[in-house]
Amino acid sequence: MVKIPFNKFNEFYVDHTKEISGRLRSVLESGKYLRDKETLQLEKGIAEICKRNFAVSTSSCTDALYFALIAVGIKPGDEIILPTFSYISTLSAILRCGALPVFVDIDNKTLTLKTEGIENFFTQKTRAIVFVQLFGHVIDLRNLKETCKRNNIFLIEDSAQALGASFEGFSGASFGDISCISFDPTKLVSAYATGGVAVTDNEDYYNTLLKLIHHGRNDEGKFEILGYNSKISELSACFINLQLSQLDNTISKMQRIANTYIGQLSKIKEVEIILPEPSCRSTWHKFVILAQNRNLLREYLFQNGIETKIHYNPLLHEHLLLKNYNYKITDLSHAEKIKNDVLSLPIYPGLKSEEINYICESINNFYTL
Ligand SMILES: Cc1ncc(COP(=O)(O)O)c(C=O)c1O
Repeated sequence: MVKIPFNKFNEFYVDHTKEISGRLRSVLESGKYLRDKETLQLEKGIAEICKRNFAVSTSSCTDALYFALIAVGIKPGDEIILPTFSYISTLSAILRCGALPVFVDIDNKTLTLKTEGIENFFTQKTRAIVFVQLFGHVIDLRNLKETCKRNNIFLIEDSAQALGASFEGFSGASFGDISCISFDPTKLVSAYATGGVAVTDNEDYYNTLLKLIHHGRNDEGKFEILGYNSKISELSACFINLQLSQLDNTISKMQRIANTYIGQLSKIKEVEIILPEPSCRSTWHKFVILAQNRNLLREYLFQNGIETKIHYNPLLHEHLLLKNYNYKITDLSHAEKIKNDVLSLPIYPGLKSEEINYICESINNFYTL
């Protein structure tokens, strides 16, 4: 039977084994494993791609989000607005600060936080909004940024999935007071392990982030604030730098794959594709459809050798861990409906045309048989 996995995490390594092995060997031989040449190159490269002044790498995007909230001064009891449709990290970073999550619904086309009418959820205690850029697409947040500014509210951008994406000259991590990116193995650019980075234009936040990743240590070597130990290894940074050098090529491959999917799936009336805005250069981190009879379709695809995933169900406000925390919910009806329809199809640079054809034919067969 055909076997099409959802992702292939070793693809880049397999295609660039010689080059990677050589570079990794130099790192191992150097004896410098943390915050040396590769990490500094990574931070410079990411700041350039994101068009931001500063970048600080971390052990994970989850840590970057947590540190971002600390850096802007979030305190226990502050209210933070977030979409209920995201990965757990968006929520856990808020809970780690002792802040109160306020779950808001999603837009029915983009599945990102519904920003229209967002001011209705502002209270005296609202201190931040965490906006999540989903699926490698970028949403233009200029208006939201303005709204936040007018109301003295921080905008933190969860750009975990948005590295390399752009929109009219903005990057996928342009809009947040601090924006956070992930290098976990599911991402287009990934570490050998976990990894993340926070970007900002504000030098004070940058200096605080630098302290937070290293036990709160300042330039004079004194432990000035309560900090953490959250760094990326030089080996991972080296692997990431090699992927960054090929990012445009990788994104082009993803776009070709997405276009092939779009060409074929647009003909199936039971399927709706979550598309980026026309002027957005998406990286297609995920190819997500809304599918009628989603669960039966998923099972049918599985029986035919095609692995799919669901992003996201349960919704954030439905996670078990919340039984131990206070939180606020608003009308979440759209997210409640969408969670039963979303289906993520396989997508990675090496996915072949014949495989995409087979996936699309199988979806078509499911609805016509
Ligand atoms: C939307 C979103 N936020 C945050 C994260 C957390 O990233 P990390 O695994 O690097 O902590 C992810 C990772 O999958 C994500 O998709």
